[in-house]
Amino acid sequence: MKRIGVLTSGGDSPGMNAAIRAVVRKGIYHDLEVYGIYNGYAGLISGNIKKLELGSVGDIIHRGGTMLHSARCLEFKTPEGQQKGIEQLKKYGIEGLVVIGGDGSFQGAKKLSEQGYPTIGVPGTIDNDIPGTDFTIGFDTALNTIIDAIDKIRDTATSHERTYIIEVMGRDAGDLALWAGLADGAETILIPEEEHKMEQVVQKLQRGHERGKKHSIIIVAEGCGSGVDVAKEIETLTGFETRVTVLGHIQRGGSPTAFDRVLASRLGAQAVELLLQGKAGRTVGIENNKLVDYDITEVLSRKHSIDRDMYRLSQELSI
Ligand code: F6P
Repeated sequence: MKRIGVLTSGGDSPGMNAAIRAVVRKGIYHDLEVYGIYNGYAGLISGNIKKLELGSVGDIIHRGGTMLHSARCLEFKTPEGQQKGIEQLKKYGIEGLVVIGGDGSFQGAKKLSEQGYPTIGVPGTIDNDIPGTDFTIGFDTALNTIIDAIDKIRDTATSHERTYIIEVMGRDAGDLALWAGLADGAETILIPEEEHKMEQVVQKLQRGHERGKKHSIIIVAEGCGSGVDVAKEIETLTGFETRVTVLGHIQRGGSPTAFDRVLASRLGAQAVELLLQGKAGRTVGIENNKLVDYDITEVLSRKHSIDRDMYRLSQELSI
């Protein structure tokens, strides 16, 4: 293998730049030429491809977003779109591809692999919803952004003795909500993986109120529905004054944490290592702090699940 490509796709996540840097530097270290594909699969189809040098990835390790830009590309879901992408890769003589992204990006990588094109998936998403790794690139940074925001909200919540509902991202996964709730001592955490009854949420709030609690923090994962609806229901059932914060895309930006930079560097480099070993159709990840790789089809057939022990603990600590 002489020439490889790298692209980022789907929702960006802090640490993607560190992963791109690792792919480029590790590739060049092993005498490969590395090409950057801009705008995800859309750029692959249109041939938005440029050679990257050592200096192209200088001064990006600490930056959020992705220097290669990203896109959600419907055309690449079609066999025609995939064919166009493969033709571009052949035109540029690119023999292996590293795809950094989440579930949708991995679906594209799987399609390329099925058509005999060597592709490795690197999990990059704030949602932490990719099987085959304990953590995805960007999760830790997003989590810290959420915690920083909740700490601030807590100050004003105490001053005004209100109930605060905070809606966090995560698509269908509750990891961001669960970890943030545990880290911030939230009274209630609503995640899509666990059923919840509003009467119980309300009872808990009322018990706290009777004990003289000055404020309550409720974290709602977006996969459970809207924080605004939860707030309305609580207000109707309790008469408590509520306020809602939807953290939104602030969670996707910002300088990656040290954890995400190190994770991204390890996973990006490992993806190149696998291509050099002639492996294809794999995903990279870390489990118990060790690098692992799995068949991409198998990873996509697995369902992501939350850590039930952590959820139980969050319940026990927020009585
Ligand atoms: O997958 C990352 C993510 O931020 C999800 O948490 C969220 O549901 C989604 O992307 C938002 O996507 P968009 O930026 O396209 O609105």
